[in-house]
Amino acid sequence: MEIARVGVVGLGTMGAGIAQVCLQAGFEVVGREVEAELGEQARGRIDHYLGRGVEKERLTRDDKDAALARLTLTTELADLAGCQLVIEAAFEDLAVKRELFGELDRLVPAPAILATNTSALSVTQIADATATPERVVGLHFFNPAPVLPLVEVVRTAHTGDEAFDAAFGFAQRLGKEPVACNDTPGFIVNRILIPLLNDCVRVLDEARVSPEDVDRALRFGAGWPLGPCALIDLIGVDVHVHASEALHRALGEERMAPPERLLEMQREARLGRKSGQGFFSYD
Ligand SMILES: NC(=O)c1ccc[n+]([C@@H]2O[C@H](COP(=O)([O-])OP(=O)(O)OC[C@H]3O[C@@H](n4cnc5c(N)ncnc54)[C@H](O)[C@@H]3O)[C@@H](O)[C@H]2O)c1
Repeated sequence: MEIARVGVVGLGTMGAGIAQVCLQAGFEVVGREVEAELGEQARGRIDHYLGRGVEKERLTRDDKDAALARLTLTTELADLAGCQLVIEAAFEDLAVKRELFGELDRLVPAPAILATNTSALSVTQIADATATPERVVGLHFFNPAPVLPLVEVVRTAHTGDEAFDAAFGFAQRLGKEPVACNDTPGFIVNRILIPLLNDCVRVLDEARVSPEDVDRALRFGAGWPLGPCALIDLIGVDVHVHASEALHRALGEERMAPPERLLEMQREARLGRKSGQGFFSYD
């Protein structure tokens, strides 16, 4: 089955970025938001980022116009029926995703692939909400999706080879760097990075080090391109805390639990770059 039309469910930070990557790679995209206005906002963001690409001469104005012309917006899941692949990028909540997959399973005929972009939920539990778990995979893009090359392609015990291979090949056609992975909590990167970032934050208080100095230590001592505090500010404190809590629930290791300092930052809405203030200030 040739993938030509891709459905994207949820056009928030990740969904809009994933839709943009698919459009730029030449796929037709049907983007589904819960409200038409949210869809239009996502189209505006995609338009903006493609425009920046034109300014930087990464693509031509004609490429940009052609990419935007391949995007259709809808509020109806039923409009995804003609897609060969649907990528779900909705709110990180198991009940929300299970309900969506139950509906997608009814509305989008097999053998179309149903993929989730979940960061820390079980792909298996999401797939269990369908009658066709053999066509369910994880396609875990990283933020910002148009910039970061990695896509973790996640298989459950029920994922069929056909769906998995097609999803892997699709990520390659996007120009990404797919890595195959089994459905385990946090997959590869988050399983390693989340407790590591939590350790970095704990060192701030234990060793009474400033965020600037923890960042300098990891940059100049471990070769990190970006310090851990700057990285959490980029990810978003709320997103990181949410993923930490999910990993902690799944694996029960104390290092997975979000440090108190991050919970306090979340309560005070110091969420990082997106709120203008996190460990550091942003204009
Ligand atoms: N932000 C990241 O760094 C990142 C990275 C990789 C993966 N993810 C994963 O991507 C997914 C989306 O995250 P995001 O950061 O784009 O979130 P976001 O808050 O920016 O967007 C969430 C989207 O879900 C939609 N939504 C909310 N409730 C819904 C419902 N009941 N039914 C259907 N849609 C609903 C919203 O309209 C919105 O489009 C999550 O599973 C998250 O774990 C996030």
